[in-house]
Amino acid sequence: MNEIHVAIWGATGMVGQRFVQLLAHHPWFRVVALGASDVSAGRPYAEACHWLLPTPMPAAVRDLIVQPIDKVPDCPLVFSALPSDVAGPVEETLAQAGTAICTNASAHRLDDDVPLLIPEVNAEHTALIDVQRQRRGGKGFIVASANCSATQLAVALKPLHETYEVRKVSVVTMQAVSGAGYPGVSALDILDNVLPLIPGEEDKLETEPQKLLGQLRNGEIENALFVISAQCNRVPVRDGHTECVSVQLERHATLDDVIAAWQGFATSPELAELPSSPPRPILVSDRDNRPQPLRDRDMERGMCVTVGRVRPCPILDFKFVVLGHNTLRGAAGGSIHNAELLVAQGWVR
Ligand SMILES: NC(=O)c1ccc[n+]([C@@H]2O[C@H](COP(=O)([O-])OP(=O)(O)OC[C@H]3O[C@@H](n4cnc5c(N)ncnc54)[C@H](OP(=O)(O)O)[C@@H]3O)[C@@H](O)[C@H]2O)c1
Repeated sequence: MNEIHVAIWGATGMVGQRFVQLLAHHPWFRVVALGASDVSAGRPYAEACHWLLPTPMPAAVRDLIVQPIDKVPDCPLVFSALPSDVAGPVEETLAQAGTAICTNASAHRLDDDVPLLIPEVNAEHTALIDVQRQRRGGKGFIVASANCSATQLAVALKPLHETYEVRKVSVVTMQAVSGAGYPGVSALDILDNVLPLIPGEEDKLETEPQKLLGQLRNGEIENALFVISAQCNRVPVRDGHTECVSVQLERHATLDDVIAAWQGFATSPELAELPSSPPRPILVSDRDNRPQPLRDRDMERGMCVTVGRVRPCPILDFKFVVLGHNTLRGAAGGSIHNAELLVAQGWVR
């Protein structure tokens, strides 16, 4: 396969840096352009970016001059890590110009003709790209990654919904500070504290999983019918979102059935070929005090979700804890995984 040239828009931010890190040694993609705000544009990346990751900034990007994002980069694929209000019109312009966009921003996630994609959950939803092209007329297209908390919840619910049909979900999140971007939440607000509000987050967590687990019929997604009640909290953890979940299922299942559904949730042969696919999308921990963000977020290179503390729920049917890495599985890693699927299916060349 020929190397595919890619750009990262929002490259200096929390998610953008993860893209830079993950793409430095990617076997299919080569970063040729980086974009950010007017504050960064025109400067070498090494100077414009306050690098926050524990691995060194890759040498290949240090001298790239950061581009303004109203420029259309000369490559077939753009990863977008822009703030949502900025991303909406920029991504539409790029798609019209013939570029494929894999975005982390929420601007287009719930558009009827935009796939909200997690390869293990709904790889077939990429067929919406044809609908999008017919409606919008461009040669390019937009494919969105879900909200980070919604991603790990949807992965955990997928095998349960497939076999037992999810009816009701109650979820309480403990979300890492890296989820707020950089500089994000002030240290004086979050150290020794919990913030019981993440603006806009509960709406996303209460609506995106139904699209993710929906059925594609006649060029439309029929959303899954379950209801979700979400309560989202910011906690003083660097990376990794933890969610306490209770579910009610339509069909009878025992505790062993639920655990077996997760353990049997294997990567399909189509996805096994993708460089970012985790061998096991869901790890089930049988230790009574896991998952924990510090100890479990980097399992399978941060691309799996870990469930644990599975037990009966006296109000709904079962309760459990699910953990995922918000900037890997829940953002840059997930978007790169999406792009790999788009290449494998022939949408990006
Ligand atoms: N953090 C997470 O865990 C996470 C997870 C899932 C999805 N997301 C989504 O991913 C996107 C990026 O999040 P983040 O956490 O990386 O945010 P961030 O750290 O604040 O980074 C934002 C990036 O966008 C650029 N930018 C800001 N305003 C701009 C403008 N007006 N024009 C052009 N570029 C602009 C910034 O460039 P400068 O450095 O030049 O300002 C920076 O590169 C957001 O849509 C967010 O909701 C984040």
